Amino acid sequence: MKLLLVILTLNTVSTKPSTLLLPPEESSVDDFSDAIVAILRRHFVSNHSSTMITQSSKVDDHTEAVQLDILDRILLQTSNEIAYIFSNPVRPRRPRFFNVLLFDSYLALRSILSQLHPDKYDYSGYYLLILTAPRPVFSRTLQQMFIDLWAYNIVNVVLVTSNMEGHDSAQDIALFTYFPYVEHHCEHVHPVLLHRLAPFSKLDPSVDLFPPKLSNFHGCPIRIAAVDYPPYTMIESVGGRQRLRGMEGDMLNMIATLLNFTYEIVEMTGDDHWGQVFENGSFSGAVKLVVEGTVNMTSGCFSMRGERMSAMKSSLSYYTIKMMFAVPPGRPYTAFEKLFRPFGAVTWTLVSLYTAIGAGVIFLLKFYPWSVRKFVYGRGTGMACMNLMNVFFGGAMSRTPGRNFARTLLFLWLFQCFVLRSLYQGSLFEYLQQSKNFSHVNSLKRIEAAKMPYRMSRGNVMYVKEIPSILKR
Ligand SMILES: *[C@@H]1O[C@H](CO)[C@@H](O)[C@H](O)[C@H]1NC(C)=O
Ligand SMILES: *[C@@H]1O[C@H](CO)[C@@H](O)[C@H](O)[C@H]1NC(C)=O
Ligand SMILES: *[C@@H]1O[C@H](CO)[C@@H](O)[C@H](O)[C@H]1NC(C)=O
Ligand SMILES: *[C@@H]1O[C@H](CO)[C@@H](O)[C@H](O)[C@H]1NC(C)=O
Ligand SMILES: *[C@@H]1O[C@H](CO)[C@@H](O)[C@H](O)[C@H]1NC(C)=O
Repeated sequence: MKLLLVILTLNTVSTKPSTLLLPPEESSVDDFSDAIVAILRRHFVSNHSSTMITQSSKVDDHTEAVQLDILDRILLQTSNEIAYIFSNPVRPRRPRFFNVLLFDSYLALRSILSQLHPDKYDYSGYYLLILTAPRPVFSRTLQQMFIDLWAYNIVNVVLVTSNMEGHDSAQDIALFTYFPYVEHHCEHVHPVLLHRLAPFSKLDPSVDLFPPKLSNFHGCPIRIAAVDYPPYTMIESVGGRQRLRGMEGDMLNMIATLLNFTYEIVEMTGDDHWGQVFENGSFSGAVKLVVEGTVNMTSGCFSMRGERMSAMKSSLSYYTIKMMFAVPPGRPYTAFEKLFRPFGAVTWTLVSLYTAIGAGVIFLLKFYPWSVRKFVYGRGTGMACMNLMNVFFGGAMSRTPGRNFARTLLFLWLFQCFVLRSLYQGSLFEYLQQSKNFSHVNSLKRIEAAKMPYRMSRGNVMYVKEIPSILKR
């Protein structure tokens, strides 16, 4: 660790006229892009995410041409392994973890940083910064660049340049980074030389280009806006110092021990502890402190929801509760509904269909001679239609038909009506024993269908903001 912390001497006074103006000879651009390709191959190959390229040149057309040249070379050599996309104004589905920034000056970096948005760039991701400066770069400039990156908490940075002021060999390629937390220093932003590549040499495999930088805070303080909300976060005073307890507090104490940081608490008081995100872009409460940077984080049973996520990044969710709706009991069945409930619509349709067919056949037979009717109904059995309904409702036949065909028909009809009636009575008996009410509404869809009004507290309304049909009511 200490070896890496070779702190560069600020060699800023010398302002000798530049003799190192690009265009460098072919070989040096080759070396430069080879070094970049080696870094990309080692750290940026991923099957799941693409690498975003952002480019900015402010000095002149020539540096832009050099950047395009370098890009051509690295795309040619690595496009089999790495998927690239170029930064564009469209918001991607996820912020990009792997980023390559090409710029030629401090101003160019500023212009890239001014477009940085957490929707597009994952600040905790890997950033490969390629500096194609036409003139030698001062260490102080480099430091300013890193200070600006630290303002966004971007720490996994490797800056590649071949043009440093104060180094003997102009052809050397230098890789810089910074370590925000070092022993006896907090948020100490100073360029650190990670590795130096002489021309025609290979990247040393033992050099860790993206070492963990936030695994030891060396006792530096973190400011936390805490909301006293038992049992999640509780603020306790121990020996004049405020400590956090509770589920989140204990977790935080453990993380503080692991990462070696101390914390100070800003206790949130007043009505609006947690804070809101207003439509007009202003904030209140703890959210406001975080957004303004007065505190570094906040704790206090924060729920993850749309508008908050747009203002703050959350930790992992550790607790999920269901949203509950209280609904009125179902209304009682009417007498008519009770009568029809035992059978479903299909059964009722089929029953009516059979009966209708029977009635239809009887109607048709009216146009046939007596002999045919006698064959079907049997002799002297009276009105056929009346008999049909009589058997249907379980009445008795006073005179049974004499012929075999008619008897068979009658038997089939009797049997079918017997089965249907038994089923109906059995089913009705079961229904009458059960509750006399419709079952209550049990899904959002049915609430929707029943057009029930919603009553919610202000806080809860925030959760359903994304469901406009609920919000309307
Ligand atoms: C990517 O996927 C290929 C094939 O499934 C696998 O061989 C390779 O190891 C993966 N690379 C990484 C970096 O996960
Ligand atoms: C934590 O930080 C303090 C202050 O810099 C240091 O003395 C101590 O060794 C660190 N502890 C660990 C485990 O690194
Ligand atoms: C934004 O709206 C909130 C509440 O509607 C109000 O309190 C606040 O003053 C407004 N801020 C600005 C900058 O308009
Ligand atoms: C934490 O907040 C303080 C301001 O209270 C700020 O100076 C410091 O840079 C912040 N630390 C980080 C890591 O953002
Ligand atoms: C049935 O509905 C009535 C009126 O809506 C209600 O008073 C009663 O409590 C309900 N019964 C059950 C068992 O839900």
